This record gives sequence, C-alpha cells and structure tokens, in this order.
Amino acid sequence: MEKIRIPIEQGYDVLIGHGLLDRAGDLIKNQVQDRKVLLVTDEHVAEQGYASRVTHAIKSVAEVIHVKVIPPGEKQKSLSNVEELVEMLASLNFSRQDCLIALGGGVIGDLVGFVASIYLRGIDFIQIPTTLLAAIDSSVGGKTAVDLPQGKNLVGAFHHPSVVLCDVATFETLPAAIFEEGCSELIKYGMIMKPSLLQELMSREQPLTAQDPELVRLVKTCVEMKSSVVVEDEFDQGLRQLLNYGHTLGHALEQVSQYEISHGRAIATGMQLFLQMAMQRRELPPDYLTNFTQLLDDYHLLEGPYVYSAKDLNQAMLNDKKRRRHTMTIVLPSEFGRCELIELPVVEFSQWFEKEWNADVSTKN
Ligand SMILES: NC(=O)c1ccc[n+]([C@@H]2O[C@H](COP(=O)([O-])OP(=O)(O)OC[C@H]3O[C@@H](n4cnc5c(N)ncnc54)[C@H](O)[C@@H]3O)[C@@H](O)[C@H]2O)c1
Ligand SMILES: [Zn+2]
Repeated sequence: MEKIRIPIEQGYDVLIGHGLLDRAGDLIKNQVQDRKVLLVTDEHVAEQGYASRVTHAIKSVAEVIHVKVIPPGEKQKSLSNVEELVEMLASLNFSRQDCLIALGGGVIGDLVGFVASIYLRGIDFIQIPTTLLAAIDSSVGGKTAVDLPQGKNLVGAFHHPSVVLCDVATFETLPAAIFEEGCSELIKYGMIMKPSLLQELMSREQPLTAQDPELVRLVKTCVEMKSSVVVEDEFDQGLRQLLNYGHTLGHALEQVSQYEISHGRAIATGMQLFLQMAMQRRELPPDYLTNFTQLLDDYHLLEGPYVYSAKDLNQAMLNDKKRRRHTMTIVLPSEFGRCELIELPVVEFSQWFEKEWNADVSTKN
C-alpha cells in the first residue's frame, strides 16, 4: 500500500492499494471510531457490493452506520440532493463529531463533500473513490460542488476529506468507457506537468486497463502531482488552474450537451483543440498534435465532431468561473508535458474559438 500525505494545514493521508476496502476497519479507524457515520453511494457502486463491504469492515469501530444510496449520474450533483442529505443528517442527530463517507466516483465525492462542508458549518468526511477519475483527481484537493441549471459546479466550497482510501481493485468493475474517462485525466496530468508519464502512456503496447499492475503507481504519481499543485495554490488563485487544461471547453461541452457528453471525453476534445491553439501561437513540432490525438484515440476519447454551435459553446465558456471581466485565463501546452497559463482578451479568444470550432466541425464532417 502507498501512503501520501497531503501537506496542507489540516493535512490528510491518501492510501492507495489493492484490496483496501476490506481493511477499512484498520485503515480509517481513527476517522470513524465511535462516530456516527453516513455512507453515501450510488446504485451502481452499491450493486457491486462495495457499500456492504465497507460497512462490514468498519461496523465494529463506528458507533452506528447509516447508508444512503442515490441514483447514479451527474444530475445528482443538485441542490435538492444537498437539501435531502442535510435534512437526513439533522434527523439522525448527527453532531460535529460525526462524519460522512463518500463511496463512489466524482459525483458522489463532490456532492457528499459539499454536504459535509455546510452541515453544522462543516463536519468530517472520508473519500473512498471507486473510479480512476475520482482516485487521481476529484477525491484529493478539497474542491466540492454541485451544479446549477446555469452551469456546472457553480455552488461549492473548499473542504478537504479527513482521509482518502483508494482501492484500485474497485476499478475492475467499471464499464470500459468510464475507465477511459479516468485515462483522460491521466493523460492530462502527463501533458501539464509530467513528460515521462506522457511518454510512458504513448509507448505502451496496449492501452492501460483496470487490471494493470502499474495502476497503484500511476494513481500515486497523479496524487503526488495534484498534491504539489494544491499545496502551492490551495484556493485556486493561480497554479491550480493548470489542472483545468482542456476543461474550459470540456465543461462547456458537458453543459451544452446537457451532460450527454461525459467529462473525460469532453475534456479530451478540449485538450486537443487547445493543443492546436498552442501550436498556432508558438513553434512546436507538428507531430505533437498527431501523437497526442493518437493517444486520445487509443482510449476512445475523441467521439466528435460534436455539432453544437460555436456560439453556444463560447457563451458557456464565458460563463466559466475563471473568466474576469475582459480577459480569460486558458491553459496551453508550452511543450510536450508542460503547460502554461495564458491570459487572453475575451474578444480575441472568442473570435479564435468560433473560427476553429466551425472549421473543425466542417472538416471532420
Ligand atoms: N472536485 C474536483 O476536484 C473534481 C475534479 C474532477 C472531476 N470532478 C467531478 O467528478 C465528476 C465525474 O466523476 P466520475 O467520472 O467518477 O463520475 P461518476 O461519479 O458519475 O461515476 C461514473 C459512473 O461509474 C459508476 N461507478 C463508479 N464506481 C464504479 C465501480 N467501481 N464499478 C462500477 N461502476 C462504478 C457510477 O455509478 C457512474 O455511473 C464530475 O461531476 C466532475 O465535475 C470533480
Ligand atoms: Zn476533470
């Protein structure tokens, strides 16, 4: 098992290994002992038996364990679910000493983390990520949020978990398409700050699968990268925005498609288009784009062309939290495995985007 300490003020451990769920009674003992616990998960995760395994593992340690199973999917990151969960906690007389467990992917993690951040002005919560994406990205770093009809993640808070328990064996039951979503974020880490990871992914004979013995190491590498960025910029004022490579357009695609296009695939299109932009702005070897596109294709991440209008997407991007009044910050590759933050006038960005998007859609159609 690997253990990574996230060295912020109330630091916490990320435990990564194979078969950790059944050892939860030992591994997260300090965080659940003599506390009431509400474990929240979704139907797909519960169907795999993970909720009952965690409950079984901690039942002799926790005071009492309640389980709430909600439907799967991004639409569950809603204020109505927040309301239901905080009312449930209040009815069960949860105090500040008690805690929540988020068992599932990023949807469960974001929703439960946000509930934990506001109930009684903040109670502890534990992340047990069961998707690759949640393991390498959403479960670490303390960002929690739910969506509004006007956009994704518009209501949220910074609230770190008290511990993250990542059992990579849970990835084995992920549908291939969901595992590939996580690979999209893995590729993102390679492109923003780890050329060796990008090279490793490109030189593999076969694409990564959920059975790969290297998974623990790869998750650890990503968690260390995320940690280094979060420590420098806990509240997302600068460096942390690098993690948003591909996400400005990605979030817009998710929103405009009403979440028909999944997160990992949406950001893959964003990463590819923003690499094109980078290549128009500076001299980069032309094979960067071909190689990167090939890598995204290996994981079936480029399903476009998506025929959404450039204007609608542009508008969605301008509503992004990262936008200032007249400028927006975008993340562009500066070389293969390094990205930089570029501030562009909104007008210049919009003109570029609409032209590129329309050209892209028409050539690929
Ligand atoms: N807070 C952050 O910093 C951050 C970072 C990145 C992404 N996110 C958020 O994460 C969310 C996406 O997360 P996700 O991709 O994990 O999606 P998800 O939580 O919807 O999970 C994807 C699907 O896999 C199923 N599933 C989960 N684990 C499973 C398992 N082990 N076996 C079988 N099925 C399983 C789920 O039921 C769901 O249908 C988005 O809402 C995104 O905004 C947050
Ligand atoms: Zn993401």
